[in-house]
Amino acid sequence: MNKKVTRIISLMAVFGCTAIAFTSCEKHDANSPGVEYMPDMYRSPSFETNLTTLVQKSDGTFDTVAENRNPAPGTIARGFMPYPYANTPEGYELAKVNAHNPFERNDANIKEGEELYGKFCVHCHGAAGQGDGPVAGKLPGPPPPYTAPDKINLTEGEIFQLITFGKGLMGPHASQVSQAERWKLVLYVQKLQHPDGVFPAPIAEVKAPAVTAKAKKHKK
Ligand code: HEC
Repeated sequence: MNKKVTRIISLMAVFGCTAIAFTSCEKHDANSPGVEYMPDMYRSPSFETNLTTLVQKSDGTFDTVAENRNPAPGTIARGFMPYPYANTPEGYELAKVNAHNPFERNDANIKEGEELYGKFCVHCHGAAGQGDGPVAGKLPGPPPPYTAPDKINLTEGEIFQLITFGKGLMGPHASQVSQAERWKLVLYVQKLQHPDGVFPAPIAEVKAPAVTAKAKKHKK
């Protein structure tokens, strides 16, 4: 007989015997699930956050297991500082004067800002920040030029707050660009506003919350 055919037949015989060996061990019971080869894989304990689950032990009894817990309130991921200003008019006023760029205004950071601007902003704001990107014309109101009289003196904190939370037709960008990237975008927006390299002087910081002297006097 052909060698190849013999080999195929013997392989089939081996598989056949193995299959019979596995299926014939169990008493015939229509409701039996059969031999469980790896029970953990059929009935794994499903762990869910903040639940207490019953896990079956080998002797059939159950153990109560406390699962992953949510972090305690106020927990901060390592190496991450939450942005402290809220998306409210008060948060905006505080960010305006108190939020400062932790990144130096150097060529490398500005270049990174320029690259991010090319990915996330240019289609609306245009290459020179004049509000003439290809999408601008499709918006009911195009973005204002960064150099408009009421925009040219936006502080770094205001620009950061605007990128973070958005404004009007401009959506929030906090989920697309990290805090570090947003600060580099601020450097690039400022470069478009002040190509001569002369930037407005920073405004004196205010203590939060901003309460006027008069209101303070009457607050007992
Ligand atoms: C979908 C288009 C769109 C995109 C994308 C976009 N913007 Fe805007 N942006 C606008 C519009 C529209 C306004 C005007 C908002 C208003 O005044 O209601 C605006 C306003 C601004 C302002 C001025 C805010 C003010 O006080 O009026 C700044 C600064 C700004 N955008 C920066 C950015 C930066 C940086 C990016 C990229 C991370 C970006 N924008 C992405 C549409 C966009």
